[in-house]
This record gives sequence, structure tokens and C-alpha cells, in this order.
Amino acid sequence: MGVPDPNEGNALMTISEPQAAASFHVVNVDQATAWDGEEGEHWTEHANRYDAAVRRYDSYLVDAARLAEDDRVLDVGCGAGVSTRDAASVATAGRAVGIDLSARLVEEARRRSQRAGLANTAFVQGDAQVHPFESATFDVAISRFGAMFFADPVAAFANVARALHPGGRLVVLSWQELGRNEWVLAIRKTLAAGRTLPEPPPGSPGPFGLADEVAVRRILARAGFSNVELAPVVEPVLLGSDPEDAFAFVSGLGITKGLLEGLDITTRAHALEALRETLAAHATGDGVLLDGAGWLITGRRA
Ligand SMILES: C[S@@+](CC[C@H](N)C(=O)[O-])C[C@H]1O[C@@H](n2cnc3c(N)ncnc32)[C@H](O)[C@@H]1O
Repeated sequence: MGVPDPNEGNALMTISEPQAAASFHVVNVDQATAWDGEEGEHWTEHANRYDAAVRRYDSYLVDAARLAEDDRVLDVGCGAGVSTRDAASVATAGRAVGIDLSARLVEEARRRSQRAGLANTAFVQGDAQVHPFESATFDVAISRFGAMFFADPVAAFANVARALHPGGRLVVLSWQELGRNEWVLAIRKTLAAGRTLPEPPPGSPGPFGLADEVAVRRILARAGFSNVELAPVVEPVLLGSDPEDAFAFVSGLGITKGLLEGLDITTRAHALEALRETLAAHATGDGVLLDGAGWLITGRRA
């Protein structure tokens, strides 16, 4: 996935949702292209697998959010909405609103929420960095790995802060640095096929956009948050129920497709065989598990 150019400016994109306004304001244009495109398609089609992959992280988010029955919750980068639904099922007299760049994921989140009988949820397609949230509307903003993709994280978190009432809580899960996440390292190493792969530039929008503790503290302070804490959450990531299942899932991931690009047919076949072996080497009685490490980031709107 490309790194958005913050100078690329604004763009208007059409919302596919019939009842919504005709367009929404996007500044994270490259991210919108990916998430409202191929990446979002894959996440929608494989929502259950993506949910299962990080299921071990969910309770950290829910527990840290300390939700009350009447809380109004904003879920940033909600995807297919599992954390929105988790919040809505606790805040039964309040509501949970998910925002995401992907029309497909927003539709899927809405469908899953209806199926779960949760009337206190709403989902909106939008760019959380610039979405015109009504100010001081929410008690809590949460995100499960959905807030690491902003071209201008200070502006984005300031926008989220404005949506919270003073003293409102922020609870975000993000990934720690690449070197601590075997589930990405192993895929990269296996598919490098002799190439030296570039490290993701620190702080660039992407899975490791909030990996640096010092940078996160600086971003959130400048965005108007106080009492910022980062707690490590070290849990394995489930890539499949068995090696074949994991191979089917991992071979469709954006990172895998990106790494296979440019390889000739023979090298590609060897790389895929190596990937199959790597996944098989991590098979356990509980599925194919690789080490992962995240941050549980908490703070309060000052
Ligand atoms: C790694 S996925 C996580 C999805 C979901 N939170 C989950 O845990 O399944 C990241 C999500 O963030 C969304 N996203 C990225 N940048 C965003 C932005 N600027 N505004 C709203 N959503 C964004 C993407 O569309 C994507 O659905």
C-alpha cells in the first residue's frame, strides 16, 4: 500500500451509500483508494478471518475502554465493525458509531450489526482526519488497529479530540515496530526471495504508523490529549486454523501480493512454497500462530 503524500491536497469522493450525502471530504487519498478499493474488498470478504487473527487483542481494548451503559462511543477505522458491536453491546443505553474509509466495510459493518440485533449502532463512510464530527458528542473514542493510517496524525487525532467531550477517553490498539511482529516479519523474510526489502519509514501511514512510543506521545499531546499511556500487549496472531487455511488467507493479503509483484514465475513459485513451509512450521493445536506485539494507547481529551 502506498504512502499518501500529505501535500496531495483534498479530494471529494462519492459515497456509495444511497441515504448518505452525495460526497465526503477525504485528505488521505491514497489510503482511501486502497481501503475503498482492493484492500477493503479483501477485508470485507475475509472479515471473519481478520477478526479471528487479532481476537486475542479484543479484550484489552474493551477492558481499557471501561464503558458505561450510557456511553456514546466513536470507533475510528471500524472496518467490519467488531469493536463497534462490542462497544454497543455494553453501552446499551448509549450508542456506538463506526467511521471508515471503505464503503464495502461500512456496509458489511451495518449488515453484521443488524444481524446481531444492535439498534444502537451507526456507521458512516468518511475520513476520520477531517470528518465534520459534531463537537463534544462522544464519551469515548476507540480504535482496533484503525488509527495508524493518517497522513497527518496530529490533525486526525485533534479532529477525534474535538468529537470527544472534555475529559473524554481515547483507547487505541496499534502495532509495535515491525521487528516485534513476527507475523509480518516472517511473511516479508519468506517472500523477500533474495531482495533487501525497505523498512517502512518510521511514522509513515500504515500498520506501523503508531509504533514509536515517543512519536505517539508527541502526536497525542499536540492533538489535545493528556494522561497518555502506552501499554504493551503481546499476543499471537492467528493466521489460519491449519497450514492450508493460513496459506489461503496469507496469500491474499496486501503485503503478500505486494511482495510477489515483480518476481518471475519460478521465483514466485519458490517463494510461495517457502511461505507454505513457514506457515506449517508455526502450526499449533490452536491454529497457525505467529508472535505479535501491539500498543494499547490510552489518553483523555484535555
Ligand atoms: C487494519 S484495518 C482495521 C479495521 C477494524 N478496526 C478491525 O479491527 O477489523 C484499518 C481500517 O482503518 C480504516 N481507515 C484507514 N484510514 C482511515 C481514515 N483516515 N478514516 C477512517 N478510516 C480509516 C480502513 O478503511 C480500514 O478499514
